Amino acid sequence: FEMLSVILLASLLLKASLASTAAEASYVTQITEANMHSILHSNEVVFVYFYADWCVFSTRLAPIFEQAAAQLKAEYPEPGKVVLGRVDCGKEQELADRYLINKHPTLHLFRRGRLLRRQYRGARTLLSLVDYVQTQFRSPIINIDDPTLIKCQRRCIFGYFETTKGECPALELYVRLADRFKDDCDFYQRIGKVDEKQPGMPRILPAIVFRPDEELSHKKAERFEGDPSNSTQMKAWILDRCVPLVMELDYWNVEELIEEKLPLLLLFYYPGDPKPAKDFRAIVEEELSELRGVFNFVIVNGLLFDHVVTHMGKTQKDLPFIAVDSLDFMYTFPRFNDIHKKDCLRRFVTKYQSSKDGEKEKEELNAPNPRSTLKELGPSKHRYSLLEHNEL
Ligand SMILES: *[C@@H]1O[C@H](CO)[C@@H](O)[C@H](O)[C@H]1NC(C)=O
Repeated sequence: FEMLSVILLASLLLKASLASTAAEASYVTQITEANMHSILHSNEVVFVYFYADWCVFSTRLAPIFEQAAAQLKAEYPEPGKVVLGRVDCGKEQELADRYLINKHPTLHLFRRGRLLRRQYRGARTLLSLVDYVQTQFRSPIINIDDPTLIKCQRRCIFGYFETTKGECPALELYVRLADRFKDDCDFYQRIGKVDEKQPGMPRILPAIVFRPDEELSHKKAERFEGDPSNSTQMKAWILDRCVPLVMELDYWNVEELIEEKLPLLLLFYYPGDPKPAKDFRAIVEEELSELRGVFNFVIVNGLLFDHVVTHMGKTQKDLPFIAVDSLDFMYTFPRFNDIHKKDCLRRFVTKYQSSKDGEKEKEELNAPNPRSTLKELGPSKHRYSLLEHNEL
């Protein structure tokens, strides 16, 4: 009997310890169709990776994500604040489809139930994952006194308000929209009465002012003329300015741009001479704006992406030049200066479009054409297991 009870006790202990390891094993919540809705809507921040069991990159991420979850749990212990979760795409086909998962792992962050416009494409390190979640709780708005001291590197929005006290719906709205568009624009605010002596200071508050990336744009500063407490109006105005038709390519947005699978109309420019970039932007906005969603329009620093320039058989001396990258082949626009001839760029783009189906016309276009190199900068096989959409 004694022997039996020892065995029984031992097995009970073993079971208990197994159960508790299972319960403590993970700070990462398994998300399914059944619990997704309630998790999204009962937590401020939900950071999720969509994975597949067979994918090595998912397997590599798992322990790092686990550590991040543990660290964030210690930092934000209160319920309803932060949840790190994972979705097994092998089992949760519907969720994978809903979030258009086309590579594993894909990382998405939800704020108050709403999916952020951009997925997480940063480093898969503990530091970087944790920092990404922490920034969700930091205000993206920088307080300033003198807006003329700010050099606008990319696109900037300035909010001028008399007071931070409640009952300023314009300020509340501004804070909300800054949070929403912080990846696309830099946001500043100045709180205080109108200072007549300060140059560039609006005379009537509240005021919202946009400034473009001055070095690469012909655009001027511009004031929001709508109703500053109307969210529809202010959002549309900010979206229009912060998500411009012509983007500048950098190492942060290239993966995302290529993943959209749209052909690119590219201007390669020499950074010492920004005028061609400004002209290109103005002309695209003037002549090609209805092709938003058909093409991605991009300006590219030809020194930063010199390997692409070289690949096209060109050197720094050939800058600036324009090309279409169909993500298969690249087609060069014959003479940059012709963009100033009315509709010349437009005809080039249309010719490319109409040649997409016909091999013969395609060959006519200044063949032989180099293969796309930018495609290589899209989601990489060394970072993700790529799926074709039709495999989902
Ligand atoms: C806000 O502006 C939109 C578009 O101009 C308009 O349709 C809507 O009625 C306005 N809403 C309010 C509450 O004034």
